Amino acid sequence: ASLKPYNTFGISAKAKAFISVSNIEMLKQALANSAYPKKFILGGGSNMLLKNDVDALVIHIALKGIKTVKETDEAIWLEVAGGENWHKFVMHCVEQGYGGVENMALIPGNVGTAPVQNIGAYGVELKDHFHSCTAIHRTTLEQKTFSLEACRFGYRDSVFKNELKDQYVITAVTFKLDKTNHTLNTGYGAIQEVLAEKQINNPTIKDIAQAVIDIRSSKLPNPDELGNSGSFFKNPVISIKQFEKLQQEHPKVPFYTVSETEIKIPAGWLIERAGFKGKRFGDAGVHKNQALVLVNYGNASGNEIWDLALRIQKEVLQQFGIEIQPEVNIIE
Ligand code: EPU
Repeated sequence: ASLKPYNTFGISAKAKAFISVSNIEMLKQALANSAYPKKFILGGGSNMLLKNDVDALVIHIALKGIKTVKETDEAIWLEVAGGENWHKFVMHCVEQGYGGVENMALIPGNVGTAPVQNIGAYGVELKDHFHSCTAIHRTTLEQKTFSLEACRFGYRDSVFKNELKDQYVITAVTFKLDKTNHTLNTGYGAIQEVLAEKQINNPTIKDIAQAVIDIRSSKLPNPDELGNSGSFFKNPVISIKQFEKLQQEHPKVPFYTVSETEIKIPAGWLIERAGFKGKRFGDAGVHKNQALVLVNYGNASGNEIWDLALRIQKEVLQQFGIEIQPEVNIIE
């Protein structure tokens, strides 16, 4: 089966075998299928680069449903099945007036894979309104609930990318959302600009979601039109010392303070300065409005995209002495 429709990069890799599972029983059966010792779990396919064909049984998570598990006057706890589309879930919350995830509108992917890398945008991360998630162990089929602490979330990071890498399938995520007294996160410059432009002084949850949608649609390519996986690299974190040296050579370098000793540099800026913005090599390219996003103009292979990534990585290292690492999962 071709995986082209199942990965937002639009890479034409083939799966050895493919099954879409819409309930837990089907999922367990697929995980236990001994005809295919190797399994590959596929969610929204929005954060991976398939370098080659996938020599495994690809299990597509199509679990659906949003359930209220608890409700008070102030808050609501929603349990969302892993196969629900992330943006659809965000818009559901926005329409109901539940606050918490509006800054993360339009992030591609599914709810079940969102905790793996603690998705985030415009000052808010998944962990900020995460309550718990349930997951099934890939070999023992045991079900387990992970609390916020147990997930050990960090910047684009969690236990599911480290100690528990490739061990669990997240089947549902429970979020705690605000019904009243929700504090909107409008700190991000670009959001403020959109609100000012629209002359919105007292923004609502809906206004924030719309502002984020406006910003993202103007900068980030729509995967339905141009294959991509969002930010391809993570923003590198460097020491203050290294930053001061960088700032001497490039006084205009943008940065975010992480701690007293560390600074985060936008990789998009480094890549742009290295001369890659808008460049195209065959069907692989660097997006014209956001250098952090690599794009597939149609028929790029996973290896072609990867070659471009390596070239960028090497050039950035040479010019700035900074190593940038992929944010996207590279599937060998
Ligand atoms: N910049 C450039 N050139 C570019 C792109 C960016 O100079 O081509 C500079 C901009 O001038 C700006 C800075 O880099 O000063 C930051 O750019 P932007 O606000 O677009 O955010 P980012 O750091 O590139 C991160 C996340 C995005 C998230 C945005 C908004 C990472 C790896 N990426 O991008 O997440 O949407 O902030 O919060 O942390 C994703 O993970 O897939 C993703 C899109």
